[in-house]
Amino acid sequence: MTNKHNTTTVLYIIIGLCVAGLLYTGFSWSKTSKILSETLSELQAKTTEFEAKIFALEENLNLEKSEKERLQSELIKEQQKNEDFENQIDDAIDEVKDLKKLSETDEELLQKYSKVYFLNEHYIPKSLTDIDKKYLSQPTVKKQIHKEVYPFLKELMEEALDDKMTLKINSAFRSFSEQTDLKATYKVTYGTTGANTFSADQGFSEHQLGTTLDFSSQSTNYALEGFDTTKEFEWLQENAHRYGFVLSYPKGNKYYVYEPWHWRFVGTDLAKKLHKENKNFYDLEQRDIDKYLLEIFD
Ligand code: DAL
Ligand code: ZN
Repeated sequence: MTNKHNTTTVLYIIIGLCVAGLLYTGFSWSKTSKILSETLSELQAKTTEFEAKIFALEENLNLEKSEKERLQSELIKEQQKNEDFENQIDDAIDEVKDLKKLSETDEELLQKYSKVYFLNEHYIPKSLTDIDKKYLSQPTVKKQIHKEVYPFLKELMEEALDDKMTLKINSAFRSFSEQTDLKATYKVTYGTTGANTFSADQGFSEHQLGTTLDFSSQSTNYALEGFDTTKEFEWLQENAHRYGFVLSYPKGNKYYVYEPWHWRFVGTDLAKKLHKENKNFYDLEQRDIDKYLLEIFD
């Protein structure tokens, strides 16, 4: 009986201890849970706060971005305006330069002479230079040419020499008075009507410009007659335009007889155009020719 009583007592104690343990654990868990719940609320509040801050920052960032884009497009517009302005200034400078260059370029250089236009007796080219004797058919007789045409002529002569041509110059610049004397001589020999078919009156010769040359070849013993049968003439027909020279009086022209030897400098642009279009200088309108004056020596 006593043993049974003792066992029951121990059982009650154990149950009591278990209940006490469970009560303590429940109490403790409830306390921890409360702390956790409070911490979670705090964290949630902080997260909301952070989210609000991030949202505000993002908004600011977007504003900054659109402001930056606006400023960039303003900058591009301003840069474009500056560029346009610079271009306008450059154009104006170019125009002034062109006008200055044109005012300094002798406007007689591209006029149609040949019974059309008159050079007065005082006209001489702005600057003349002696032609190297090695290019002359008569090396002892000095010949002159417009100084700015000479580099083009020299290139032509050297190129012809490289191509084994025996090209020489018979005549170049002739002053008003030289043309007067020459024409008078021709008149004596051929009569006025005869001389007029191949020789210009003083003031009407392209030779007075200093830009015009009469070429000859060794194969005709440097005579002008027969020059059109030479390989040198053929060479000029194929190449002279590259150096700015054109034939003034081709077959069937309305001014003089056919003069295969007589070539005039008109600048490379115009000479190449005439060659390409198979036209003659005198076929063009003067106003179309004048457009080439500005760049005649370029
Ligand atoms: N022989 C050309 C036409 C001149 O005298 O100019
Ligand atoms: Zn001539």
